[in-house]
Amino acid sequence: MPAQNTFGLDIGTSTTKLIQLNKNGDKFDLIAHGIISSPPRALASEAIEDQEELSEVLKRLVDEARPTTKNVVTALPESQIFTRVIDMPLLSESELASALKWEAEQYVPLPLTDVELDWQILDQITSTDAKNPKMEILLVAAPKLLVEKYMKVLNMVGLNPLSLETEPIALNRSLLTSVSSSPTTLIISFGASTTDVCIIRSGKLTFTRSISTGGIALSRAVAQDLGFELSQAEEYKKTYGLDASQLEGKVMQSIKPVFDVVVNEIRRALAYYLGKRPDDPIKRAVVTGGSAKMPGLVVYLANSLGVEVQIGNPWENILLPPSNKQKLIDQSVEYATCVGLAMREEQDA
Ligand SMILES: Nc1ncnc2c1ncn2[C@@H]1O[C@H](COP(=O)(O)OP(=O)(O)OP(=O)(O)O)[C@@H](O)[C@H]1O
Ligand SMILES: [Mg+2]
Repeated sequence: MPAQNTFGLDIGTSTTKLIQLNKNGDKFDLIAHGIISSPPRALASEAIEDQEELSEVLKRLVDEARPTTKNVVTALPESQIFTRVIDMPLLSESELASALKWEAEQYVPLPLTDVELDWQILDQITSTDAKNPKMEILLVAAPKLLVEKYMKVLNMVGLNPLSLETEPIALNRSLLTSVSSSPTTLIISFGASTTDVCIIRSGKLTFTRSISTGGIALSRAVAQDLGFELSQAEEYKKTYGLDASQLEGKVMQSIKPVFDVVVNEIRRALAYYLGKRPDDPIKRAVVTGGSAKMPGLVVYLANSLGVEVQIGNPWENILLPPSNKQKLIDQSVEYATCVGLAMREEQDA
C-alpha cells in the first residue's frame, strides 16, 4: 500500500518534529519520523539569515527522516493567530461569509486585509430553542506575513506545503479521535515558549487560548534562583521538576511561582467555559508537549485544577516499529502535534 502523500512537520521553538504515516485499516503505520533541535531564533525572526539557518536544519531533518513525499502539512503557532468560537444566527454559506467578516473585525486586532480568514461550522443548534436557532462557528485569522514566512522557508527546503493548520486541531486528531463521544476534555500543551490550552466538546474544538509561559521560563527561573547556567538549570528542571521531596524542594520552589501563573490562566479558561456552559463542567485534562514530562506535573495539576489529569498518547492508533518503539514512547508528548498533522487527510494532494 502506498504511503500517505503528505507528512507532518511541527516547527517548535525548541524542537522540530517530522512524522509520516500510512493508513492501514483503522490503524496507521509509521513511515518516517525524526526530531531535531530548532535553531535559536527560527521563525520568531524576520531576518533572512535566521530563515536560511532554519531551512538548513529542516533539510537535515528531512534528509535523516526520509519521508516519501515532499507534500507537507504544518501548523501555525497558536500564540500568533487569532482563534474564536462565535455564535451566529442560522445563515446560508454566502450570508455567513460576509457576516463573518464583520465579526472578524471585532476580534482580530489587525486590519482584515492583513489576515487570512478561515472558518468551520462547529454546531447548529435548532432543536432546544426553535425561536433562536443558531450556529457555532470556529473563526481563525492568520496574519498574512506569518503565512508567507512559513511558505518561504518551506519552499527554501524544497517542500510543497499543502496545508497550514492550527496546533489544537492537530492535537484533537492525535490525542482524542478514538474517543469522540467522550466527555468534554481540556487539552493542555506545555511547550518551550508557550502553553496552549483548548477545550474539545463532542469531538470538536470549542475554545483555545495561548499562554505566553512555557518550559524556557521554568528553566530560567531555576537558573536565576539557584545561580545555575541555563543548560544546567534545564537538567535540574527535567530531573526534579515539581517534586517537593527532591533537593529539599529547592527546584520546585523556583518553578512553582512561574508554573502557578500558567495554572491560574488555565483556571480562568475553565471558569470562562463554565460561564458559557454551566451544564458541562470539565472533569478531565489531557496534557502534552515536552514540558508535560516534568516530574510531579500531573499530580500538581490534578490537585490545583481539581480535574483528572492524564498524559496524552498520540501512538494509540499507530503501529510502531519494534526497533524504535521505546524511544518513540519516551518522546510521545513531543510528537503529539506532529502526529495529528500527519493524520490529516488531503483530498486533492
Ligand atoms: N523531563 C522534562 N521535564 C520538564 N521539561 C521537559 C522535560 N523534557 C523536555 N522538557 C521541556 O520541553 C520543552 C520542549 O518541548 P516541545 O518539543 O514540545 O517544545 P516546542 O514544540 O519546541 O515548543 P513550542 O511549542 O512552545 O514552540 C523544552 O522547554 C524542554 O525543557
Ligand atoms: Mg510545540
